[in-house]
Amino acid sequence: MHPDSSPTNHEKLKKWVDEMAALTKPDQVYWCDGSQEEYDRLCGEMVTAGTLIKLNEQKRPGSYLARSHPSDVARVEDQTYICSEKEIDAGPTNNWMDPAKMRPLLSGLFDGCMKGRTMYVVPFSMGPLGSPIAHIGVQLTDSAYATVNMRIMTRMGSKVLDVLGADGEFVPCVHSVGAPLNDGQADVPWPCNDTKYIVHYPDSREIWSFGSGYGGNALLGKKCFALRIASAMAHDEGWLAEHMLIVGLENPSGEKTYVAAAFPSACGKTNLAMLIPPKGFEGWKVWTVGDDIAWIKPNSDGTLRAINPEAGYFGVAPGTSNETNPSAMKSLYKDCIFTNVALTDDGDIWWEDMSEPPAHAIDWKGNDWTPDSDTPAAHPNARFTAPASQCPSIDPDWENPEGVPISAFIFGGRLSKTFPLVYQAFDWNHGVYLAATMGSEATAAAVGQAAIRRDPFAMLPFCGYNMGDYWNHWFKLGQNLKNPPAIFRVNWFRKDKNGKFMWPGFGQNMRVLKWIIDRANGNANAVESPIGMMPAHTDITWDGLQYDNDHFHHLMEVDRAGAMGDVEEQAEFFAKFSDRLPAEIEKQRTNQSDRLASAPEIWELPK
Ligand code: GTP
Ligand code: SPV
Ligand code: MN
Repeated sequence: MHPDSSPTNHEKLKKWVDEMAALTKPDQVYWCDGSQEEYDRLCGEMVTAGTLIKLNEQKRPGSYLARSHPSDVARVEDQTYICSEKEIDAGPTNNWMDPAKMRPLLSGLFDGCMKGRTMYVVPFSMGPLGSPIAHIGVQLTDSAYATVNMRIMTRMGSKVLDVLGADGEFVPCVHSVGAPLNDGQADVPWPCNDTKYIVHYPDSREIWSFGSGYGGNALLGKKCFALRIASAMAHDEGWLAEHMLIVGLENPSGEKTYVAAAFPSACGKTNLAMLIPPKGFEGWKVWTVGDDIAWIKPNSDGTLRAINPEAGYFGVAPGTSNETNPSAMKSLYKDCIFTNVALTDDGDIWWEDMSEPPAHAIDWKGNDWTPDSDTPAAHPNARFTAPASQCPSIDPDWENPEGVPISAFIFGGRLSKTFPLVYQAFDWNHGVYLAATMGSEATAAAVGQAAIRRDPFAMLPFCGYNMGDYWNHWFKLGQNLKNPPAIFRVNWFRKDKNGKFMWPGFGQNMRVLKWIIDRANGNANAVESPIGMMPAHTDITWDGLQYDNDHFHHLMEVDRAGAMGDVEEQAEFFAKFSDRLPAEIEKQRTNQSDRLASAPEIWELPK
């Protein structure tokens, strides 16, 4: 296609592209068609420019390695803004700036920011193309790296323009790495800017991202659109956009139950989404629908239906191995982009805990590395970008435009103390409270924050409006469901006094999932504890694992002082929401406090 021709008769889109080109002043504007030929060409150009390294074609066909600038390695939460008209609508958990201030600030930054570069026009669909629950965005970007990643992560290219037609709706997304090239200035492998702004206007549904080429900062379909903007759309339209994996569990009789689970970043969503049933679960299958984001809509039959709006995985690499996640490893066999992992001497990739360390490699910064080095070979937030279709456990229904029916919601964080392996909410409203009070130990994108932070619904960095209104939205949504899904809290990360994980996790989490779906389907017993309904040792299937009653009792115990301390801390957090705090939240907190007050010092499952 001719570089400057626009392959659409969508006047509003053409006008916007022209305006943005006039502002950012790229050397050329290129409309992406999404073809393989185009992808190969862009990757080839990035290899020449030093942005990508082609991996060994025998070992890792069609795959590339990118090394980011060491200052541009994760989402920047402190530079992420929700610019609603009114501050109160962004709420106390978001950064806010008056649009009247932000707009001129961004106009200044974007003025001429694409000089010397190409502006790629990237039309994309979140959700199966043309599905009634899908939504379209168009990202303008001066990053070829973001463009090729978007081709894996979304449905991208001319087919999206076909669906958009002459007047379809799209979310405009403008992205620049913020590194214009003045006459003759040489480029660098990973251009970016120390000044970064990731900005959302929920009222007009626009996204503006400046200064970063990495992950959620730059692949605007993901966190910016499918979570922040979509959560605001979902609030207005009566559905949910959540930081959740979606997985289907099929029992040996072929009955499938789907659950959706929210965990903060780097807390095991990809692992759970691709779980392999352990020994003792012969005949069971676990099917992957999504590993990061779920769009969930009430159906006319009174159930909730979920789709994965993405088309790829942008997964944490370190820790991924044939032991912890064989399906992810198999998904990576070809046609992937790896960012900030190590390069082996035979032109393949490696990261911490993938396998035996190589005797020598080039680390994520491009330096020689050996197992004796003091620094890791891969950055802890190194990621792979892989087509979802390559996952061996991909659910046959993963692209079903109707979505899959959700029977249970699971919420979990990374908590080494106090919180038991699993418990079920007494009812929907209690479940919303349990999700609203989730906490987790710090991740890569949250720089300089306290060791444990509250992360309600794992949505703290992703809710595009006031979190108090979001909780209210959840309360109301449940009231209107004939069969609201059961709600659970889990914690794979409780540690003993020697600092060791008390629960083996990974594939063994199947045992917890089985109890969860049995409860959701009305087929399992539970014991009432002060914080929720719990399985007794005999309610869990233990075939194939030695995990004795004693250990289980410790894993499940409720330490009154610890739990009460948490309930008291919640009050402080909730107070920030003042009159946007739903009364039901405080009511649930009081009930929890009352139940704990009359509990023994250490509550244990009956022996
Ligand atoms: P984002 O993509 O950042 O949203 O995160 P994610 O939730 O998909 O993260 P991911 O699945 O990549 O999390 C990986 C981390 O979770 C690694 O540190 C794993 O070791 C750890 N992990 C996953 N499952 C378990 C488990 O069952 N037990 C323990 N102890 N660690 C786990
Ligand atoms: C997360 O941080 O939750 C991610 C990675 O899934 S990123 O897309 O970079 O936000
Ligand atoms: Mn995520």
